[in-house]
Order: sequence, then structure tokens, then C-alpha cells
Amino acid sequence: MNNFDFYNPVNIVFGKQTIAKLAQLIPTNAKVMLLYGGGSIKHNGVYDQVIAALKGFSYVEFGGIEPNPRYETMMKALELAKKENVTFLLPVGGGSVIDGTKFLAAAMFVPEGTDPWGILQGTIPVTKALPIGTVLTLPATGTEMNGNSVVSRNSTNEKLAFGSQFVMPQFSILDPVTCFSLPDKQIANGIVDAYIHVMEQYLTIPNNTPLQDRWAESILTTLVEVAPQIMKHKNNYDAMATFMWSATMALNGIISRGCIEDWSTHIIGHELTALYGIDHGRTLAIVLPGNMNIRRKVKGDKIIQYGERVWNITQGTDDEKINKTIEKTVEFFESLGVPTTLAPYNIGADVCKTVSQRLTSRGLTKFGEAGDITPEVVEAILKDRL
Ligand code: NZQ
Ligand code: ZN
Repeated sequence: MNNFDFYNPVNIVFGKQTIAKLAQLIPTNAKVMLLYGGGSIKHNGVYDQVIAALKGFSYVEFGGIEPNPRYETMMKALELAKKENVTFLLPVGGGSVIDGTKFLAAAMFVPEGTDPWGILQGTIPVTKALPIGTVLTLPATGTEMNGNSVVSRNSTNEKLAFGSQFVMPQFSILDPVTCFSLPDKQIANGIVDAYIHVMEQYLTIPNNTPLQDRWAESILTTLVEVAPQIMKHKNNYDAMATFMWSATMALNGIISRGCIEDWSTHIIGHELTALYGIDHGRTLAIVLPGNMNIRRKVKGDKIIQYGERVWNITQGTDDEKINKTIEKTVEFFESLGVPTTLAPYNIGADVCKTVSQRLTSRGLTKFGEAGDITPEVVEAILKDRL
């Protein structure tokens, strides 16, 4: 196991009717900025609950944050937040609203005249941010309990990420009832995203992390178990609660402490979103099977362990077990209506070179847990999914 630090200050408030607790969680003298997306919260009653809880607080609103939040939109939010002297940020929505808000929180302290995009390029270190409290309405990203943010820039077709403990939410309210209004597609995307977060931290190289492995496997097994229940009955509170908590636990830093991590499926997946607008979770379902297949030498031991413990695959040669495990993983994603190849998106062989060149141009020529992913390997992974 590698050495590690672990610090996670996020206060999770979980369960039915918890949005009302906002009134106790936000500092009383705060000037609040309520941020949201394209309007889902106005249709499912969440907005009304938030407004009721904000009674007596001074607040401004900023709506219209799009899926894959845009830098351009968040710069408008920045202007408003500065003009209104906002002191507390309250994003209400999915990962996009929360991630966009994290960027805004850090951008507030970038000196005038400097472009905050540098935060995402890694040229501006984050040393301070406005406090954030979130109300999550879509289980998937884990952003409610981590310090990560992913923002896209329209003008350059870039999708970049940054991470900082300064943008970790102070609290996150998770009421599974708010998720009953999610379209099937978003639920399926969320299940796949959470599943692959676990895989990025678990399906790597053995490193004497038996406890972390069991945690990871328990999240995977739980997601496999609960997925068909939610897909059948969205209003099943217990199933939704299990899914929501699983997604949070999948990316709050606990399961990866001391582990060797990968994240190459995300790195390649983000390019597919930037280029073709494919939903985040869907890009991962395409890339992961190719990643497992092409990098079976690096990941072999862990794929066999995962196959045995999550899918009960115990028979055959190592290669046969690996093939069967990839098949089972693909079947699971497809059972949720999430495609695992590029063909349904009408994307042809050009994608292989295009993505490898874009990553190369950003200096990403050796990545993955073993530093073995060269441009040729990126191409092979995508070719596997044509
Ligand atoms: O915008 P509104 O109208 O709210 O609608 C949203 C949006 O259209 C809708 N939605 C959310 N909650 C709903 C709902 N519709 C009905 N009922 C509800 N309760 O769902 C749509 C998608 O929302 P979005 O926030 O984009 O989805 P998600 O939570 O999957 O977030 C995706 C973003 O997170 C990033 C992704 O790259 C992508 O930009 N990620 C962030 C991570 C992190 N911060 O740690 C890690 C992830 O790997 C990921 O990269
Ligand atoms: Zn993800």
C-alpha cells in the first residue's frame, strides 16, 4: 500500500426532506448565490423547497448552467457573483452545476486581468475559494463529496479538470426523492459513471490493498444488484438511496487511499465528449472494455480478481477469464441501454488518430497506472470499440 494523507471535510446530510436543513447549514449572514441548470429543479419541486429554506437569507440566482458546464457560462456567473458581493455558493443540481460552481468559487480569487481558465490548465494554483454547499439531484459524479471539477470551453473544444481541497463542499444535501424525476438515460449514465469511478481506482495493479479492494468490489456488486431495481421502478426510495450513496462513496477518496489509480478511461472519454458531445457516462462505457482488452497484460491480475468476486467467473485459462469478464461488464452496461461501441454514434475510424493527437498535443503521451498508454495504445483502445 502506498503512503497517503486523507482529508475529507464534507458534511453529508442524507435522506428524505433534508433540503429544509439548508437554513441551519448556511451561515446566517451569508450573501448566497443559488446556481442551477436548465430547469429540472423547477419541474420537480426542488427549487420550491430550496427557496422555502432560504427564507430570511439574502440571495441571488444564476440558472442555465448546461450539462458539461461551460467556462463561458461560468464567467457570466463570476461577473454576477462579484457585482453582488456573494459570500456563499449554493449549487442545486447534477455534477455539471456543482462542478461549474467549484470553478466559480476558485475563480473569485483570481486577480483581475488574469484569465481563470488557467485554473483548469494548471497554471493558476488554487489557494482560496468561496465556500460551497450543494444540493445534489443526480447520483453519478461524486462531486458532492470531492474537490474535483470538470469544465468545458466552447471556443477551443476543450474539456479539462482540476482538483483542490479548497473547493470541497462544506456540506452536501442528498435527498434520494429529488432523483425520482430523472430520465432513464440519466440514471443509466449515472450508474455507469459511478461504476467506472470505482474501476479507475481498483482495476489497476495489485498493491497490497485488500481492504480497499473489498470496498471497491462491494460498491460494484451493490450497483449491479440495485441497477435493475431502479431502472424498473424509479420511485423505489430504498433502491435510489442505495444508488445515491454508492455513487458518493465511489469517488470521495476513501476507496483509493494507498492505491495505484488509472483514470485513462476518463481521460480518453473526456475527448469523446469534447469532440462529439456524447454524455460523460456513455463515453466511459465505450472506452472501458477496450481499455481492459488492450491492456490485459497490465491489468490482468486485477481483471481476474474482479471477474471472480463480482461476476463469479472462476473457470478457464487467464485469457478466457479476462474475455468473459469483459463480456459481463459490456452486458451490464448494455442492459442499462448504454452502448459500448462507437458505431451507434456514427463515429468512424478517424476518431482513433484524432483523439491520440489531441492528447499528444497536451503532453499526454504516457499515462495510465503503469505509464504504458502511448498514442498508439490510445488508438488501439478506440479501434477495439469501432
Ligand atoms: O440542467 P438540468 O435542467 O438540471 O437537467 C440536468 C441535465 O440535463 C438533468 N437532471 C439533473 N438532475 C435531475 C435532472 N433531470 C431531472 N431530474 C433531476 N433530479 O440531468 C442532465 C445531466 O446533468 P449533469 O449535471 O450534466 O450530469 P452529471 O451529474 O452526470 O454530471 C456530468 C458532468 O460531471 C463531470 C462530467 O465530465 C460532466 O461534465 N464529472 C465530474 C466529476 C467530479 N467532479 O468528480 C467526475 C466525473 O468523472 C465527471 O467527469
Ligand atoms: Zn466520471
